[in-house]
Amino acid sequence: MATDQQNRQAKSRHDYQPPAFLIPTIDLHFELDSAATIVSSVMQLRRQTAGAALKLDGQHLKLLQVLIDNKQLSDAQYDLSGESLTIPDVPDAFELKIVTQIAPVENTALEGLYMAGNSYCTQCEAEGFRRISYFLDRPDVLSEYRVTIKAAAASYPYLLSNGNKIAEHITADGSRIVQWHDPFPKPCYLFALVAGDYDLLEDNFITASGREVALQLFVDKGQAHRGDFALQALKRAMRWDEQRFNLEYDLDIYMVVATDFFNMGAMENKGLNVFNSKYVLAETATATDRDYFNIESIIGHEYFHNWTGNRVTCQDWFQLSLKEGLTVFRDQEFSADMGSATLCRIDAVKLIRTAQFAEDASPMAHPIRPESVLEMNNFYTVTVYDKGAEVIRMLQTILGKEGFAQGMALYLKRHDGQAATCDDFIRAMQDANRYDLSQFALWYSQSGTTQLTASQQYDAATQVLTLTLGQSTAATADQSVKKALLIPVRIELLLSGNEKQSHLLLLTEYDQVFSFNNISNEPVVVWLEHFSAPVKLQQQSSDDALLHIAAFATDGVARWDAIQQFWSRKVAEVIAGKNAQHVLPPKLFQMMQSWLRDPGDDKALIAELLSLPDFETLAEQYEQIPVDGILSALEQFRQIIADRLQSDFVSCYQQVPVSAYQYDEASVGNRRLRALCLGYIAFQHNSQQLLQAHYHQADNMSDTIAALMASQQAQTDTFKALLADFSQRWNSDVLVMDKAFGLAATQPSEQVFTSIEEMQSHPLFSWKNPNRVRALFSAFSMRNPRQFHSADGKGYQLLQYAVAKMDAINPQVAARLITPLLSWRRYDESRQQAMRNVLQVLADSSSLSNDVFEKVSRSLS
Ligand code: TRP
Ligand code: ZN
Repeated sequence: MATDQQNRQAKSRHDYQPPAFLIPTIDLHFELDSAATIVSSVMQLRRQTAGAALKLDGQHLKLLQVLIDNKQLSDAQYDLSGESLTIPDVPDAFELKIVTQIAPVENTALEGLYMAGNSYCTQCEAEGFRRISYFLDRPDVLSEYRVTIKAAAASYPYLLSNGNKIAEHITADGSRIVQWHDPFPKPCYLFALVAGDYDLLEDNFITASGREVALQLFVDKGQAHRGDFALQALKRAMRWDEQRFNLEYDLDIYMVVATDFFNMGAMENKGLNVFNSKYVLAETATATDRDYFNIESIIGHEYFHNWTGNRVTCQDWFQLSLKEGLTVFRDQEFSADMGSATLCRIDAVKLIRTAQFAEDASPMAHPIRPESVLEMNNFYTVTVYDKGAEVIRMLQTILGKEGFAQGMALYLKRHDGQAATCDDFIRAMQDANRYDLSQFALWYSQSGTTQLTASQQYDAATQVLTLTLGQSTAATADQSVKKALLIPVRIELLLSGNEKQSHLLLLTEYDQVFSFNNISNEPVVVWLEHFSAPVKLQQQSSDDALLHIAAFATDGVARWDAIQQFWSRKVAEVIAGKNAQHVLPPKLFQMMQSWLRDPGDDKALIAELLSLPDFETLAEQYEQIPVDGILSALEQFRQIIADRLQSDFVSCYQQVPVSAYQYDEASVGNRRLRALCLGYIAFQHNSQQLLQAHYHQADNMSDTIAALMASQQAQTDTFKALLADFSQRWNSDVLVMDKAFGLAATQPSEQVFTSIEEMQSHPLFSWKNPNRVRALFSAFSMRNPRQFHSADGKGYQLLQYAVAKMDAINPQVAARLITPLLSWRRYDESRQQAMRNVLQVLADSSSLSNDVFEKVSRSLS
């Protein structure tokens, strides 16, 4: 590691201290200028801790003035070192005025106040407010905000901030001045400011209690026609939260701004959400079914934060899952109610089994409530978000939907207006249900993926079925001792003659036995129905039993899961040297054939049942990942299926109804199944015509992408021509070009390196825009296992180049990009070497950000 003189001080959860001062009100004035914005901040402060100095956070600020109770401080009265402003001697209650100057145009990190094209935009979570002014930049300091924004009236028709607009006027010299007031005290990470010229879409919503809320959606000029779906989704989310959790919106106005320059998906700033344009803008010609799904779910997510995040926020950043795990759970439940619940769940399970299990097995392993953090931005993870959501879901499974809703109500009633902890949440659930959750609470402190072992025994004479469950959690990079968790295991017993029984088993010991009487014949057991806990399951069921579950289980997720497990076994057998043809039983093909011949109503599920597991899911089954073995087994199986069921894929493809594009459950299912068939048909030599026809006849982006992906995966000649056509057609549309970048970057052939090179000089590619960089490089490193893991190490070098380049521009995005390199220990000797080499190059560079440093150093130690 390069000698490190910067102050890289990790924080520990246990060191939490309440703030020494509170700041009940703040009055912010902005004079916007791209190179020299002047921010003046007038705050009322109240001491909480006797004798303490006032220490405010600040980064990249030019301090112009400090005044206490209107008296300017001399340089000797404060200390400006490192990243803080310390005033040793302050009264118990006083007014503090601070004037700073900042340069939004130089802000490529996209944290704090930055330029998004010609507009001004802010991003303050987690610790971005300190780039705007000196402040107690921590979530447990809640203030009432008044904000005044001044900018050139002609160029900036919209000057936005949180809450209600209380004044607007234009001065004689042509400046616009707008004032905002947010009546709800909030931490500074929820502050937002946006200034620009936009197309505005307006609508309104009448709340359950009859209040009218104005809805405003701001999009880049010329994009208005792509905003309607998001606006309608917002209304659905507002209604849903009233109906499901009795929660109403609280301000008279709700604004959403879409920007193309954004570090993540979206941000729940009070009354003024800022969104990555990718998760707002949609029209049939440019957005896939997946895009529509994401937009609805993220619009919901940010809206739901208004209660779980904003009205009740987090005491400290270690509690992040308190708002994120809970809000992801809420958005998942919303999506499940809006479309196919089964498909939503399958998507969520895939994410846990790929990225989350990988994170648990990596040097970055952490509990959903982390214990130690250097750079907070590194902990917006699949563990905190998605495993966090699984933990909430388990609570609902254990307490029941009704009991869970009562716990939510108590939690929100107790902590409204406060900064709370994960323990507070558990306590509310416990008190509302009079249910001891002390063992369950271990899910918050224990990291790692638990292995569940399950077996069954049946005694025909006594008609007793005995189920044995065991749990164990291997040591992780951050934690060696693991206790027994409370794990809800939902099961279904498939008895003869279509008889079925459902049970919920609560596993609390390392090993436990559950007995069932009066079971008239030996059942097939569906374990962990609906993925009732985020664990790995090892079961002894036969292949036959798995296929039986795939055919007959009540839960669609369980059916999909069984066939995934079946394939996972077959892949292992091929890796162990068996013949790919021989390991597949005729029964499998009969079943697949019957699905293709009679797909029924749930075509999306059938498409999932006919899909092989992806590389990433399979990889998580192994400690040492057999990259080449998995890829080769998958390729063989894919070709075998394509050949054996060739005519069935063609006739299914032809029979699935095609109608003018609509985004609804049935049409999404139709497109998905047709795309699945096309994907297999592409592996036949004579498929070119069909692929071209599918592409050219498409009246929507989902079908267009399906043709491109099928021809890409099958490595057909058609792909090159189609991608060229596609890139040509959309060469001035950034969001669609991101799809072209992604397609170029996920080509399974070696051609990918040249393509990525070429795409970097595309007029729309820019290193300063995270969407572009992710479209090209995250796609390559996370969705192109064959070339990323190329034996000569070229893939790793390419990623290292991108990370290094990005770290100087936007550390937060660079640190996300580096993820696939961190787990180098899980690959074979020569790949380990190659990965470690590029990590070492990064580690040796002299100017590493905290973001990348934290990950690289954990990985190499
Ligand atoms: N709170 C946001 C959400 O999940 C995510 C978020 C955290 C974020 N930090 C960010 C978004 C930085 C954009 C940029 O809804
Ligand atoms: Zn969130």
